Amino acid sequence: MVIRSRIIGTGSYLPQRVLSNKDLEKMVDTSDEWIVERTGISERRIASKDEAASDLAFYAAEKAIKDGGVTSSDIDFIIVATVTPDMLFPSTACLVQNRLGAKGAFAFDLSAACSGFIYALSVADQYIRSGMYQTGLVIGTDVFSKVIDWTDRNTCILFGDGAGAVVLKSDTGASGIISSHLFSDGTSWDMLYVPGGGSRIPPGEDMINNRLQFVKMRGNETFKVAVNTMCTSISEALKSNGLTAEDIKLFIPHQANLRIIQAIGKKLNVPMERFMINLDRYGNTSAASIPIALDEAIKEGRIENGDNILLEAFGGGLTWGAALIKW
Ligand code: COA
Repeated sequence: MVIRSRIIGTGSYLPQRVLSNKDLEKMVDTSDEWIVERTGISERRIASKDEAASDLAFYAAEKAIKDGGVTSSDIDFIIVATVTPDMLFPSTACLVQNRLGAKGAFAFDLSAACSGFIYALSVADQYIRSGMYQTGLVIGTDVFSKVIDWTDRNTCILFGDGAGAVVLKSDTGASGIISSHLFSDGTSWDMLYVPGGGSRIPPGEDMINNRLQFVKMRGNETFKVAVNTMCTSISEALKSNGLTAEDIKLFIPHQANLRIIQAIGKKLNVPMERFMINLDRYGNTSAASIPIALDEAIKEGRIENGDNILLEAFGGGLTWGAALIKW
């Protein structure tokens, strides 16, 4: 008897405030035309001053729990993937646990930047497959607007805020997470990072004067590595399950840049219709991008029972990975 983790509920939350490309034109030297052509992004959502990662996560989690037909007391564990936690500690997951009243759960955060959701899903899957736990809540939440340099046109046009959540349940049927494939390469840690605010450059004058609390990125290099690594992890997931790209109903990639997704489609010979895309409305929401896209794909009726779907992500670390799911 094989135990698998089945996704029984999904939910997502996007802050209300919309920041359009036209709005950005008033903030930095850019244009709607440039942003749409180079990234595919038209607008993104921005959290309010008093909204933090745990708030977004909580709203998404509430919806996923309701959608899954369970209650907070059924949840054995909560994993929150984020690199923009409310505070250094306690974990965002413990704050979400408190808001949900999920007293029986243990909770922790996981840091893998934009790959965070795939990493967290994989960890959750191991707990459930081992038979140790039955029900898990996995959340991707990020509030990049608070670590973005709003004077840097190279980065500020790309990111948005959001959260997505799934409830996983132990199941012995054919549906569930079939396999996950994770990769890291610390040699390129400085391709995409936030230098300040940790124990290397603590909050203080040096950090503020040198704007080290903000995201730094080598965009061009990141672009190429993102295409190559996501293709590698997709191929790995297909190969290890004896499948081809033809067997996948829907690809749900990390939503960083439309041109990255188009390049992946071209390399794998998969038409764009089989990719879930919502970055035009939300930009890159980091760890939240895949669970938000998954939630929307389900609600749009793009996934049916028995379909194979493939999630793939790339992010700072560097980290990347894929997860094959039979719905
Ligand atoms: N508006 C107008 N011009 C801009 C601009 C903006 N927002 N940002 C950069 N430019 C300019 C550059 O200064 C450069 O000008 P120059 O030729 O005079 O030097 C020119 O546009 C081309 O810059 P380049 O960096 O080569 O553009 P690009 O086509 O690579 O697009 C990114 C830049 C950032 C959109 C693209 O590299 C990208 O998306 N990279 C991946 C980033 C990512 O996904 N990160 C998260 C991973 S999880």
